[in-house]
Order: sequence, then C-alpha cells, then structure tokens
Amino acid sequence: MLATERVLLLLVSLLSSLFHCEHSLAFSLKNCTILYSENSNNVSVTCAEHHLTAIPDDIPGNAVSLNLSSNDISNISRMDLGGLSKLEALYVKNNWILQIDDGTFVDLVELKVLDLGENLLTALTKNMFQGLSKLETISLNNNVISFTSPVVFQPLVILHLVDLSNNYLLDSDIEWEVSNKTFLRSLTRLHMSETSLSFEVYRAILQTAYSLQEFQMDNIKKWIDDGLIDVACQIPSLRTVDVRNSEIHNITEHMLQSCSNLTELNLSFNNINSMADNALQSMTQLRSLILQNNELSELPVAVQRLTTLEVYDLSINDISELYCPYFWNLTSLTILDLSHNQISYVSECVFQNVNNLKILNLENNKIMSFIDTFKDKLQTLEFLNLRNIDIMNFIQGDFHSLSSLQYLYIDLDECDSVDEGGFEGLDNLQILYLLGDNYFYDHFSGLSNLNTLILNENSHRLQRDVTHCKLVLTKIRVYTTVFCFVLFKILPHYLYTNTNG
Ligand SMILES: *[C@@H]1O[C@H](CO)[C@@H](O)[C@H](O)[C@H]1NC(C)=O
Ligand SMILES: *[C@@H]1O[C@H](CO)[C@@H](O)[C@H](O)[C@H]1NC(C)=O
Ligand SMILES: *[C@@H]1O[C@H](CO)[C@@H](O)[C@H](O)[C@H]1NC(C)=O
Ligand SMILES: *[C@@H]1O[C@H](CO)[C@@H](O)[C@H](O)[C@H]1NC(C)=O
Ligand SMILES: *[C@@H]1O[C@H](CO)[C@@H](O)[C@H](O)[C@H]1NC(C)=O
Ligand SMILES: *[C@@H]1O[C@H](CO)[C@@H](O)[C@H](O)[C@H]1NC(C)=O
Ligand SMILES: *[C@@H]1O[C@H](CO)[C@@H](O)[C@H](O)[C@H]1NC(C)=O
Ligand SMILES: *[C@@H]1O[C@H](CO)[C@@H](O)[C@H](O)[C@H]1NC(C)=O
Ligand SMILES: *[C@@H]1O[C@H](CO)[C@@H](O)[C@H](O)[C@H]1NC(C)=O
Repeated sequence: MLATERVLLLLVSLLSSLFHCEHSLAFSLKNCTILYSENSNNVSVTCAEHHLTAIPDDIPGNAVSLNLSSNDISNISRMDLGGLSKLEALYVKNNWILQIDDGTFVDLVELKVLDLGENLLTALTKNMFQGLSKLETISLNNNVISFTSPVVFQPLVILHLVDLSNNYLLDSDIEWEVSNKTFLRSLTRLHMSETSLSFEVYRAILQTAYSLQEFQMDNIKKWIDDGLIDVACQIPSLRTVDVRNSEIHNITEHMLQSCSNLTELNLSFNNINSMADNALQSMTQLRSLILQNNELSELPVAVQRLTTLEVYDLSINDISELYCPYFWNLTSLTILDLSHNQISYVSECVFQNVNNLKILNLENNKIMSFIDTFKDKLQTLEFLNLRNIDIMNFIQGDFHSLSSLQYLYIDLDECDSVDEGGFEGLDNLQILYLLGDNYFYDHFSGLSNLNTLILNENSHRLQRDVTHCKLVLTKIRVYTTVFCFVLFKILPHYLYTNTNG
C-alpha cells in the first residue's frame, strides 16, 4: 500500500470515529427525516405531513421520538411499531386512524407521551394499551370514542394526564364501565370538553379517578347545572378546578359545596352575574380565584372571607365601585387584577389591611382621582398599572407611601397636570411607563432610582423638544441622550422590558 493511501485511510477512519455520531445518524430513510441531535442517543424522527398511508418500515430502532402527525394512516398494527424499545414520545395526531390492534404498543416500554388526537377512533378496546407501563400522558381528543373497555387504562399505571376533549359521539349509549376501581388510579390531570357523555358517565369516570388533582372542563354547561363540579370536588386529592366557556350565570349556594380542599378555582370566560353570599363558604384553602371575563357588576360578597386568597382576578367584568371593608380580610392577597371594569370611585379605606399586595392592576377603568387611596397603605406594592383610566390630576402625596413600587404604568393623555411632588415617595421606582403627550419632566428628578423611562412612540412633543428631553433625562441616571430619539415601543405586559434599543 502506498504511503499516501495509508495516510488517507487513517484519515478516513479518524474522521469516521470523530464524527461517529453524525455517521450513525446519516441513515437514509425513504419517507422520514432524522432531526439533528447533539446527543447520539437521542434520535428524533419526523415523518409528519408526508401523505403516508402506513407507518414506514425503516424507522431506526434507537429512535426516541417519532412524529407521524398529519398523514393518511388509517390503522396501526402490532408489526408497525415493533422493536422501537427506546421510543419515549409518539405523535400520530391528525390521521384517519380507525383501528389500533391489540398489543400494538407492547414493545414501547419506554413510551411516556402518546398523542392519538384528531383521528377516528370509536372504541378503546381491552388490550389496546398493553405494555405502556411508563406512559404519563395520553391524548385522545377529537376522536369519536363511544366505547371504552373497563380495563383499557389498567396497564397505564403511572398515567398523569388524559385528554378526552371533543369526542363528538355518534351514539349516546356510551359504555364506560368502571366496575374495576384500579381504572384511572394514577391519573392526576383530566381535561374534558364538548364531549356528549352523559352525566352518569362523567360521574363514573370521576369516581374512579381518585388521585385526580386537576380537573378542567370546557363547554359542558348542562352537566354543571346538574352538579358536576360538586361530584369532582368529592375526589379528596382534587386541588384545581377550571371551568371555562360553560355559560355559567349564577354561582349558587350548593354548586361548590364539596370543594373545601381546592387551592385554585378558575371560572373565567363564563357569564357569571351573581354569586350566592355563601357560595365559597367551604373554601378554606383557596389561593387563586380567577373570575376574569364574566358579567359581575358588584364585588362578590362570597369572596371577602377568603383569608388564604393570594391571587384574585376580577378583570373584564362590570364592577363600578370598590368599597370598604370588602378587601380587609384578604390579608394574604399578593395579586389583585381589577383591570377592564367600570370602576369610577375608589374610596380612601379600600386597601387598608391589604398588607401583602405586590401587584395591583387598575388598567382601563374610569377612575378620575385618587383621594388618599394609597396614603399609608400598600407599602409592599411593587407593580401598579394605571393605564387608560380617566385620571385628571396627580396631586402631591398620591403615591407617597408606595415606597416598594418598582413599576408604574400611567397614561397621561387625559391628565391635565402632575402637581409639584406628584411622584414623591416613589423612592424605589425603577421603571416608569408613560403614555400620552404631556411629560412632566420636571417631576422626574425626585425619582432617585428610576433607570428606565418608557415613552409612547407617538410622542410628538418629545421628538420636537429634544433639547428639553436631554436636559431632563440627564437627571435620570443610566440614560444617554441617544435614548431621547429611541422611543421605546409600548410594553405589552408588565415584568418584561426591552431596554436594549
Ligand atoms: C432529546 O432531545 C429533545 C430535544 O432536543 C429533548 O427535549 C429531550 O429531552 C431529549 N431526550 C433525551 C432522552 O435526551
Ligand atoms: C409533529 O409534526 C407536526 C406536523 O408537522 C407538527 O405540527 C408538530 O409540532 C410535531 N410535533 C412535535 C412534538 O414535534
Ligand atoms: C415511502 O416512500 C416510497 C418511495 O418513495 C414509496 O413508494 C412509499 O409508498 C412510501 N410510503 C411508505 C409507507 O413507505
Ligand atoms: C391498514 O392500512 C393499510 C394501508 O392503508 C391497508 O393496506 C390494510 O388493509 C389496513 N388493514 C386493516 C386491518 O384495515
Ligand atoms: C381490577 O383489575 C386488576 C388488574 O387487572 C385485578 O388484579 C383486580 O382483581 C381487578 N379488581 C376487580 C374488583 O375486578
Ligand atoms: C380534603 O383533604 C383531606 C386530606 O387529604 C381529606 O382527608 C378529605 O377527605 C378531603 N375532603 C374532601 C371533601 O375531599
Ligand atoms: C384560567 O382560564 C383561562 C381560560 O378560560 C386561561 O386563559 C387562564 O390562563 C387560566 N388562569 C389560570 C391562572 O389558570
Ligand atoms: C341563582 O340561582 C338560584 C338557584 O337556582 C336562584 O334561587 C337565584 O334566584 C338565582 N339568582 C339569580 C340572581 O339569578
Ligand atoms: C373579617 O373577619 C372578621 C373576623 O372573622 C369578621 O368579624 C368580619 O365580619 C370580616 N369582615 C368581612 C368584610 O368579611
């Protein structure tokens, strides 16, 4: 052998051992692609959107993730997935699957995630999921399942999440036989929506899901009227209930009576306009109550005794008045969202005793003035949103006690003036967001920790008045004159800023 040949050979073998990882991935597949991975043990294969009618037979045996979504596959048999013993995630969403043979998944001993959503499955048969002892999540949403074997979920001993949403059933005689109580024993989260299961079927499912921690319902109004929330709440482990889009108008005395162990309740996007005064009486552990997007015109009395409440979201309702002593017992409250209401008046005593509040959102209301609203109160407040309220004037002392405030968002479009000392007391303010054309430059000097001033990009005055801008902003630390020209875009949400401009 020639010396050069030997060198070449050496080089080739060196290179191939160096790039062993790429080499082993350089598999040529007919219909699929191996996604590049730095870790050669983590082979991710995608065959999505290839008009496949069957599962390709050349899937590498070391595949960890396989995506077969959006094809035309109509059935899966035992041979199709044979030998894929490393597979942890299998996505077969959006196909035409009618039939899955018993034992199809027996080799998939490592599988954690199985997505069978958006198919045409009508039945979950006895041995369908055999072997999936490590499965944590299964999605069966948007099928037409009307038969479920009582033992189908039995092999799934550590299953946490089942998504059975949107199973538009053809026939109302669904059988959900759950005589064997080992049925859904390790299920912790269950999402259901728009199924046409009967109340009795729901009850049967819930009665076997005795490790359930989170229950989400969407669009199942009729069963809520019959008391489904109460049935769910009888599961001792249940902590979170989320009932959205279900046209609830009225929270009655008994609707939530078993819900004493709940820590989170989300009733957003309903039509709630009334709540019985004792509707939440049993809830001694509740930490988060989301009533966003309803039709409440008054503060619900039922809430005022929830001393454990930390998050209270009443945004997007029709509340017009904040009165005392409504919030006085809500001593654990840290986040209060009252944005997008009709609040015109906030009396002086409203926030008395609310000694842990960190975030207060009053955006989009009709508040015209604050008269001692914040005086000697809310010393822990860090974020205050006063955008789009009808405030006319900030007078000296309005913010006097807000010594922890770091973020203040105000809209000065309607505002005629900021009194001398209007921002006094905001010793920790770091970020001030101002919308509107009137910038009361002379008052910023008191804000000794301000480091970010975010102005409306439409500010004509500021663009014109560059000299004035320079003058003022030299008082604000950190800022260079460049900033005068770079007018930041409106921040869409609190707690993240784009100050790189
Ligand atoms: C494989 O890679 C994906 C994406 O890079 C990552 O999310 C996953 O945790 C990895 N799995 C293993 C077993 O390394
Ligand atoms: C699988 O492929 C579909 C279709 O291309 C894609 O939308 C989806 O995000 C992929 N799933 C994963 C987990 O990569
Ligand atoms: C895969 O690709 C080959 C060659 O392009 C094609 O004949 C076959 O129908 C495709 N489908 C499967 C499932 O292999
Ligand atoms: C499964 O689908 C393949 C491909 O469309 C088809 O040839 C086969 O007959 C089907 N098997 C069953 C049992 O329906
Ligand atoms: C429930 O199923 C398990 C596992 O198959 C079995 O061991 C147990 O005997 C069954 N219990 C009843 C009451 O049928
Ligand atoms: C509340 O939780 C406790 C402790 O887990 C449990 O003993 C009790 O039965 C639960 N109450 C309800 C109504 O589920
Ligand atoms: C409450 O439900 C709404 C949808 O109805 C959702 O957007 C929101 O994130 C949920 N909030 C919490 C805190 O879970
Ligand atoms: C709420 O429902 C209860 C029980 O159905 C009824 O007595 C009460 O009048 C309703 N309240 C409102 C305001 O609709
Ligand atoms: C606050 O709690 C005290 C003591 O339990 C009670 O007497 C008072 O009525 C409560 N106030 C409100 C507004 O619920």
